[in-house]
Amino acid sequence: MIDILHSINIVTDYVLFKCFAKSTAGHGIHSPMVYDFSRSVLGNKNNYEEPNEVEWFRNWQIDSSISVGPSDYGAGSRLMKKSEKLGAVIKNSSVSPKVGAFLYRLAKWSGSKNILELGTSVGVSTMYLASANPDAAVITLEGDWQRAELAHNSFDLFNFNNIKLIEGDFEQGLNESLNLFPTLDLVFFDGNHKAEPTLRYFKQCLKKINGNTIFVFDDIRWSREMYKAWKVIAEHQSVSVSVDLFHQGVVFFRKGITKQHFKINF
Ligand SMILES: C[S@@+](CC[C@H](N)C(=O)[O-])C[C@H]1O[C@@H](n2cnc3c(N)ncnc32)[C@H](O)[C@@H]1O
Repeated sequence: MIDILHSINIVTDYVLFKCFAKSTAGHGIHSPMVYDFSRSVLGNKNNYEEPNEVEWFRNWQIDSSISVGPSDYGAGSRLMKKSEKLGAVIKNSSVSPKVGAFLYRLAKWSGSKNILELGTSVGVSTMYLASANPDAAVITLEGDWQRAELAHNSFDLFNFNNIKLIEGDFEQGLNESLNLFPTLDLVFFDGNHKAEPTLRYFKQCLKKINGNTIFVFDDIRWSREMYKAWKVIAEHQSVSVSVDLFHQGVVFFRKGITKQHFKINF
């Protein structure tokens, strides 16, 4: 019953979102920073060219005969009950080409040098993040050994020397990675889609933010509790600007600007 109500809410929410959200052209967005973000990152007005190798890798793996077992980690991953072909895992759990290109442009536009990702899976989003700036340090966390191994092999194959993969539960991996970063410029939360751990990881990462840090949360409407967690994050006192992209939520921590919330059609 709760699931049916959630689905009805999602549809209603989607229709309202499409009607009232701003366009990526930036009309009516009165924050200069969000205007630029909307045009440059969402609308790609700077013509950033995302790397071909990630999509080449994705297409190459679609027909792979490798069988991947279910991950024991994360609310989303538990939907997978049996082993599946690698292509199906990529299709069901990795970012789409559109969202991958968004992450790439965001890392490029923000000049992020210290990038953390919670939830590597087989490494598709990690490669987008790491391609934006070869000088950036990217740490990515994955609990499932097989996914971690596949991601590791791909990073080696494509010579991504700026990625460090920490295998194990986020509970340990997050502390370890936060100790390694002097500060955090960009964090992609794409692992455990439950409210309590998401809020806990958010608060842990706050210890390393600076005025230009950006956090991206994937699947903010994955469930009612994830959406509630997103609302708590957007309202948090340290957040100055939140941007709701329907599936992803982005928060900024710029100092000296009035708190504002945006919804943008992406
Ligand atoms: C949605 S997938 C990540 C997809 C990846 N970011 C991409 O777009 O290519 C989420 C991953 O997070 C991992 N995960 C979820 N909760 C975790 C936890 N508590 N500790 C470690 N890994 C976790 C799962 O094993 C799964 O591979």
